[in-house]
Amino acid sequence: MDFPFKLFKFIFCTLLLINLILCYDPPKRYFHNSLIIDNRLLIFSGAINASTFTYELFYLDLSNSFENDKLTWTLIPEGNLPIYTWRSTALLDGSTIYLYGGFMINKDTHDYDYSNLVYKYDYSTSTWSTPNLGGDTVPPRQDIRGVIDNLGKIYIFGGFNATNLASYTGHLYNDMNVLNTASNTWTTLSISNIPNLSEQYAANILPNGIIVYFGGVEEVSDNADFTLANMNKIKLFDTNTNEWSEMDATGDDIDPRTYFSSVLTPDGYIIIFGGCTYSAASTSFFSVSPKLATLDTNKDPFEWSIPSDSDVNSPPPIYGHAANLYNDFMIITFGFDLDTQLFSPSSQVYLYDIKSNKWVTTFNPTDNKPTTTTTTTGTNKPVTTTPAKKSSKSLAIGLGAGIGAAVLITCIFIVTFIVRKAKQSAKDKRPNQNGQILEMPGSNQRY
Ligand SMILES: *[C@@H]1O[C@H](CO)[C@@H](O)[C@H](O)[C@H]1NC(C)=O
Ligand SMILES: *[C@@H]1O[C@H](CO)[C@@H](O)[C@H](O)[C@H]1NC(C)=O
Ligand SMILES: *[C@@H]1O[C@H](CO)[C@@H](O)[C@H](O)[C@H]1NC(C)=O
Repeated sequence: MDFPFKLFKFIFCTLLLINLILCYDPPKRYFHNSLIIDNRLLIFSGAINASTFTYELFYLDLSNSFENDKLTWTLIPEGNLPIYTWRSTALLDGSTIYLYGGFMINKDTHDYDYSNLVYKYDYSTSTWSTPNLGGDTVPPRQDIRGVIDNLGKIYIFGGFNATNLASYTGHLYNDMNVLNTASNTWTTLSISNIPNLSEQYAANILPNGIIVYFGGVEEVSDNADFTLANMNKIKLFDTNTNEWSEMDATGDDIDPRTYFSSVLTPDGYIIIFGGCTYSAASTSFFSVSPKLATLDTNKDPFEWSIPSDSDVNSPPPIYGHAANLYNDFMIITFGFDLDTQLFSPSSQVYLYDIKSNKWVTTFNPTDNKPTTTTTTTGTNKPVTTTPAKKSSKSLAIGLGAGIGAAVLITCIFIVTFIVRKAKQSAKDKRPNQNGQILEMPGSNQRY
C-alpha cells in the first residue's frame, strides 16, 4: 500500500532533484513544540535522543487533505532556531511565536546556555529575535506549559530547574511568572494559597480567564520525592483576580501521568492523550490507562469520561508528543512509543475526530468546517482564521501546476548544472565555496 507513494516521493524528491525544502524528512523526536499559524502545523525544537537535538522549523500543510501515514513536511529554511531547546513551551500571539525555557543549548559551543530565556519568531518575516525584556528576573525552567490570555499575557506556572545538568536533577517550583508581551515585562506574582510544586502538567485557559492545571509531577515540599499528581486534583488559576483555587473532579478513573498532551475544544472539553508514569525509584516509563480521556469543564465540578470508541484504532501508548486542534481534528505529532520503545515515525501523525470521538486516518480540511476555525494547542488562546475552501478541481489544477513547475525547475536546474560544469572545467581550479546547502539560490523564498 505504501510502496507507490514512497516510489512517487522518491522519484519526485530524488530524481527530479526537488530540493530539501519540498521534501523535508524531519528527524523523529520528542519534547518538541507545535503551533498552528495560517493553516500550517509548525513543528520545532525537541530532542532526537539524550544527546542530539534539532533546530529546524517545518510544517504540515492543513489546507489540503492527507492520509495520516503519508505526510509531506515542508522546511522553512530561514526559520532555523537560534538555539537547541527541548522541554520548553511555545505560545502564539497573533502570528508571533514566543518560545520560553526548556533545556537550552548553544548551537556553537554545544554547552548549556541560559543567557537568554525567551526567543521570538515573526512568522511574516521568518525571523527569530531576542526580545529585550524588563521587569522581574525570571529563572530558567523546564517542563512548563505556558498559556496566553486575550491581552497577550503569558502565564508560566512553576516547572523544573535542573541544577545538575549531568544527572538532570533539580528542583520543582510553584511560582507564577507572567510575561506581558505588550509591555515586554516579566512579573513574578506574589500570591497566597499556592499549590504543590509542579511540572509537566496540562494547562488550558478557559474563555472566562481561568487556567485549568492538572496532572504531571508534584512535590509536597522541596527535597521530597517527586510523585505523579492525582488527575482529580484540579488547580485553577483565575487570571482576573490572580488567585488560586482547587477543585476535585469527578467521573471515570484516569491514571496519573506525565509527558501527556491536552487540547481544549470550543465547547469546553479538555481532551488528554498519552503520557507515561513517573517514579522516583525507577528510570523506566510505563504506559497509562486510558490513553485518551475528556474533562468536561462545563460541569461543576469538572467531570472525567472515557469516550467509548476512543480505544478503537488508537495510536500506541506514546509520550513526549504534542497535540493541536484544527477544526474537528486533534493532531498528535511525534513522541516515543512505549510498546516498541521506538520513536513515532515522522511520516505519520495520529488524528482524533472530536465530533465523532473516533480515531481516523484521513484529514480533510473541509470536513465539518465551522464558519470560523478555532485552533488551539491546549496551551494557547484560540486563533481565528478564515482558510480558503479548496475544491478537488482546484486541487487537481494545483497539482498539475505543481508538477509542471517541478519539471520546469528541474529542467532549469539541469541546464544550470550543465552550464556551470562546462564553465568550471574551462577554468582553472577555484577555491571551494563554503555555501551551505540550505542557502542555495532559489531556496530562500518566504513562507
Ligand atoms: C543520537 O542520535 C544521533 C543522530 O541520529 C546519533 O548519531 C547518536 O549516536 C545517537 N546517540 C545515542 C546516545 O543514541
Ligand atoms: C537553575 O539552574 C541553573 C543551572 O542550570 C542554575 O545556574 C540556577 O542557579 C538555578 N536557579 C535556581 C533558582 O535554582
Ligand atoms: C499535594 O501533593 C500531595 C502529595 O502528592 C498530595 O497528597 C496532595 O493531595 C497534593 N495537594 C493537592 C491540593 O493537590
